[in-house]
Order: sequence, then C-alpha cells, then structure tokens
Amino acid sequence: MSKILAFTNQKGGVGKTTSTANVGAGLARAGQRVLLVDLDPQANLTKGLGLSDAEQNVYGALLGEYPLKAYSLHKNLALVAGSSALSGFEKVKGDELDREFLLKDLLEPLRDRCDFILLDCPPALGLVTLNAYACAQALYIPLEAQLYATDGLEKVLDLVGRVQRRLNPDMKVGGVFFTRHDKRKVLRRDTAEQLRVQYPDLVLDTVIRESIALGEAPHLGKDIFSYAPQSAGAADYQALVAEILTR
Ligand SMILES: Nc1ncnc2c1ncn2[C@@H]1O[C@H](COP(=O)(O)OP(=O)(O)O)[C@@H](O)[C@H]1O
Ligand SMILES: [Mg+2]
Repeated sequence: MSKILAFTNQKGGVGKTTSTANVGAGLARAGQRVLLVDLDPQANLTKGLGLSDAEQNVYGALLGEYPLKAYSLHKNLALVAGSSALSGFEKVKGDELDREFLLKDLLEPLRDRCDFILLDCPPALGLVTLNAYACAQALYIPLEAQLYATDGLEKVLDLVGRVQRRLNPDMKVGGVFFTRHDKRKVLRRDTAEQLRVQYPDLVLDTVIRESIALGEAPHLGKDIFSYAPQSAGAADYQALVAEILTR
C-alpha cells in the first residue's frame, strides 16, 4: 500500500514543484515505485519533467471523464499530468457532497501498484489542496529560509488540526525543510535556526542549497539526477530522500 506525501505551502516559489520532482526521481532511483501527481494549474511539474503532450490529465479524471492516467517517465517513475483547467475545479465541483474526496477515490485503485504517491500542491488553500490533504498521510512543507518564511508555515500548521478532525485523521506533518538556502545570507541562517528551536521535531536535517542546476533542469525536462548527478542539488535531494525514507 503506497504512502501518499503532499508537498505543500501556501506561498509560491518556495520549491514545492522542484522538491516533488526530485524527491520523486530520487525515490525511484532508490528502487521505490513512485507516482507523481501535478495538482497545480500552472502545471510546472508536468512541463518540467518533459511531458508536453498528455491527452489525459488529473482534471479530466477528477471530473469523471476518464480514469486517472499515469504516464511513465523513467523506471519506477510515472506522472499524472496537470492542467490549467484545474483553476476552475472549485467552481465546477464546489457544491458536490464528496468534493474533498474525489482525488482519494481516484488514487485508491493505484495504491497497490506503487510505494509512494507524491502530490505537488498549488500555492493556495482551495478545493484542490483540500483533496490532497484528504488523502495524504504526510505533508512535507518546503520553506525558503528568509524573513517571512514562517507565515506560510503557520498557515499550514493551523490547518493541520482542522484537517485531522474533519477530513483525514491519518494525516500528519512529515517535515519542514529549507530550500534555496544560501549560507552567505545571515538573515536566512537566523530564520532557519529560529525555526529549528521552535519546531524541533518538524524541521528536517536536510537543507536544499540554492543551486543553478536545480533551476536549469526543468527547462530541459529533466530531474536533477538525470541532468546534473554531480551537482549540489542532486546531493541535497539525495539526502532529503534518505531522510524521508527514515520517517
Ligand atoms: N534550490 C534551488 N536552487 C535554485 N533554484 C531553485 C531551487 N529550488 C527552486 N528553484 C527555482 O525557483 C523557482 C520556484 O521553485 P518551484 O519549485 O517552482 O516553487 P513552487 O512550486 O513552490 O512555486 C523555480 O524557477 C525553480 O527552478
Ligand atoms: Mg509549483
């Protein structure tokens, strides 16, 4: 039975998509069978992994037009494509009784066939994100270690209790981790240390450094292990994968 992890933060540009792609690729290389699901209407995960011609995407499946279609990317790694139409999901499904559980139902038949399902969430708390939280066992929260990073974190943590009570008692926070870390910037270092003191059990040891290759890889439709296996980005995501496997 697969474990479902959601990469989430209400802030954009913090590394959700980069982390979903590269943690997924790293888990697949470690022999885990991985399914990625692109839940952001921007569909950056889909484009960044080189899938440009998907005929069936998560939105059509959520509307019940067809079953969830997973496109194979590499050995052990498959992707359910995103769609810009996801931005209209709330309008279309907002009145339906089981609207928060549509994704959960779609994933159910796939859960025996993979070890991990990774959800790349949009940067907002809408119905799509609630669908992700309703089926995730663990939330992973990337934070950019700068001044207002904690805003995004507090918003997510506030929600966790409510989601546990109302939608998904099995959900927990898997971990919080820093991305785009630059040790030369004192402000970022302070923020990171402050959060470690405040949430010692939540903050992961692994820190993802700012790395040019991580920004370049999606433009070539590649994950970091295919694009630049010797880079700092590959080493950091390898470490994050190892840490996630122990939690
Ligand atoms: N560690 C990193 N080093 C350099 N660039 C990064 C790093 N992490 C993310 N980026 C870049 O920052 C931008 C935002 O990252 P992304 O993963 O798309 O964030 P989100 O999904 O949270 O909006 C992207 O252009 C991405 O390539
Ligand atoms: Mg994103």
